[in-house]
Amino acid sequence: MKPRQILVTSALPYANGAIHLGHLVEYIQTDIWVRFQKLSGHECYYVCADDTHGTPIMLRAEKEGITPEALIARVHAEHSRDFAGFHVAFDNYHSTHTPETRHYAEDIYARLKVAGLIEVRTIEQYYDPVKEMFLPDRFIRGECPKCAAHDQYGDACESCGAAYAPTELVNPYSAVSGATPVLRESEHYFFRLSDPRCQDFLREYTQRVGAHGPVLQAEAANKMQEWLGAPGENKLTDWDISRDAPYFGFEIPADDGKSSGKFFYVWLDAPIGYMGSFRNLCDKQGLDFDAYWGKDSNAELYHFIGKDILYFHALFWPAELAQAGYRTPTKIFAHGFLTVDGQKMSKSRGTFITAESYLAQGLNPEWLRYYYAAKLNGSIEDIDLNLDDFIARVNSDLIGKYINIASRCAGFITKRFDGKLSDMEAQFDFGSSHFTPNKDKPFGEFSAKAESIAALYESREYSKALREIMALADSANQFVNDKKPWEIAKNPDRNEELQQVCSIALNLFRILTLYLKPILPKLAAEVESFLNIAEMKWADVNNPLPAGHRISEYKHLMARIEGKQVEALVEANRESLNPVVAAVDNSHSQQRHAQHQQASEDRTQQSPWEPFIAIDDFAKVDLRIVRIVDAAHVAGAEKLLKLTLALGEGPNPETRTVFAGIKSAYDPELLVGRLTVMVANLAPRKMKFGLSEGMVLAASDADSPGIFLLSPDSGAVPGMKVK
Ligand code: MSP
Ligand code: ZN
Repeated sequence: MKPRQILVTSALPYANGAIHLGHLVEYIQTDIWVRFQKLSGHECYYVCADDTHGTPIMLRAEKEGITPEALIARVHAEHSRDFAGFHVAFDNYHSTHTPETRHYAEDIYARLKVAGLIEVRTIEQYYDPVKEMFLPDRFIRGECPKCAAHDQYGDACESCGAAYAPTELVNPYSAVSGATPVLRESEHYFFRLSDPRCQDFLREYTQRVGAHGPVLQAEAANKMQEWLGAPGENKLTDWDISRDAPYFGFEIPADDGKSSGKFFYVWLDAPIGYMGSFRNLCDKQGLDFDAYWGKDSNAELYHFIGKDILYFHALFWPAELAQAGYRTPTKIFAHGFLTVDGQKMSKSRGTFITAESYLAQGLNPEWLRYYYAAKLNGSIEDIDLNLDDFIARVNSDLIGKYINIASRCAGFITKRFDGKLSDMEAQFDFGSSHFTPNKDKPFGEFSAKAESIAALYESREYSKALREIMALADSANQFVNDKKPWEIAKNPDRNEELQQVCSIALNLFRILTLYLKPILPKLAAEVESFLNIAEMKWADVNNPLPAGHRISEYKHLMARIEGKQVEALVEANRESLNPVVAAVDNSHSQQRHAQHQQASEDRTQQSPWEPFIAIDDFAKVDLRIVRIVDAAHVAGAEKLLKLTLALGEGPNPETRTVFAGIKSAYDPELLVGRLTVMVANLAPRKMKFGLSEGMVLAASDADSPGIFLLSPDSGAVPGMKVK
């Protein structure tokens, strides 16, 4: 078999938010697929990068008081750490803010221009006269022109679902400065998607069935048909690919080589980042870039993406590539969105869980990889992380079925046979059809499943693959249950039989490990070392452990999940006094995109200060000056101090008990007597250590150490309202 040449990408995460469990659906799905291809002996590269450009990143850096370059460097390190923590093994994790991406952005732009597909037009757009910048739709807010709902975005109403232009908003204001925006003219550059060359190409491309099957999943192809309209009906409009300064991005080169003052819109250079990252890898490893991206490339190119960004990947991107003379993607694999316990991830419920917190709480990343795999298939359906089911499934399948086989048999081999397996010749007289001797398929039905399981991996039907693998684990356990090695072991005359039974079980365990290896790479490596064998490839399914092979001592391979670990994870992510790592919630803008796919702004085009609250919302919070009359350590609590707060002066003031996460910063003795500010009307919350009846206010920052309690100016007394 000639190895295939395969280039795989996952979508580039925005460089202004933390990786969360929603993102990980995609990166784990892709990583499993890539690992499977590599195990099968194909030449497969997996590249990704941070998506670093655009207004939100520029404003976020400004808010943090750092340069965008410093922001994206920090986030790049955080993202790289999180992906590595979940064993997502990119061959290259680059950035779009790089010379390589700039090169291909300029190159593609120049080629489109030569082809007559770039047009300059003057448009009128809202401008913030205070901040002195043009405002993306997402940064303009006002009343819905249809239903008069307040505080709606510039492109659509969340209340009634209406779509409109920002100029239709009633009483518009800038989400950046609060100023009333004014209309101003500006020249913008457009990619002429309405040109018949693009329309004709996309009509064919989106329905194409190539040598490797259809380019798009059926659901996606239908959606594209809708967006393109009936033949002759020219529904695609030109795409605005430029933005005015100030903008964090690549400046568009002017004809005379001078500056144009215009920048490529973030979604123009984002997918070009796939090329940029691969180019960077080619330069590091001496690979042939054109073999993968050239017009006549025979290599396969696959993009894994979420369904929310299908429009960009299935229309704009292939049209750009085709018209600029590059190859187009072989297939685009869209997946659905993650829900937790059947609902959108939510910060207040604690289900907006960051990758970092999952690892920091000590949960095993392979539990999540296993669970996602058990849920994933080749469709665009959403997938649900049901937390109870997560615990049950990992414990029953992974530990109870799979690990159990090795843990019940390995000890006998080590203790009774000096680690040596039996002579394999005599091992098959157990009358089980699963283990029928066959020189090509030494473990009968067990190894014969390799092909069907491979086909399921290839088509991203991981849940079906796991069902097959777990059925095999069931029959391996059945074998062990029937033979009862622990009974055999009681009778010294049956030594040989004991060794045979355990050797067979370990051989079955080896095959199961190979089948699970794309999903559980770290565990598989540990099993390889326990079995004392070289790294397994897919073809090794028919290479049993040789007769007399000596294994290493068995150490427990994986622990069970405890319910309380998951509770602690949710608790740690519940938005509270404790600083949580900032993450971008894309979900509501995602609905908007489903409705208004043409909306030209990306989904994090929100002011970093949003969502705003009204004064009435703020007035609901009853803030009071309090005196700390007692402060104490809490036995068993790592972060908490128990505070007793007086809400008045005098001999018998009303007091409250509050558990505050400030232990790292304050010695309780030094707190007694001082004034601070509390939220007095926070619903009491039962904690492990007692009832917490409010919250004290403190400043902190996820990125710099320290927690700083607030203090009022002198003159304030306990009980005073803060407003
Ligand atoms: N920067 C763009 C992609 C540019 S690709 C040239 C972007 N970034 S993102 O950070 O918002 O999302 C990255 C990927 O994660 C997307 O494919 C997105 O669909 C996916 N997901 C983000 N949240 C998700 C869930 N809650 N569930 C599943 N996938 C999710 O879009
Ligand atoms: Zn409305």
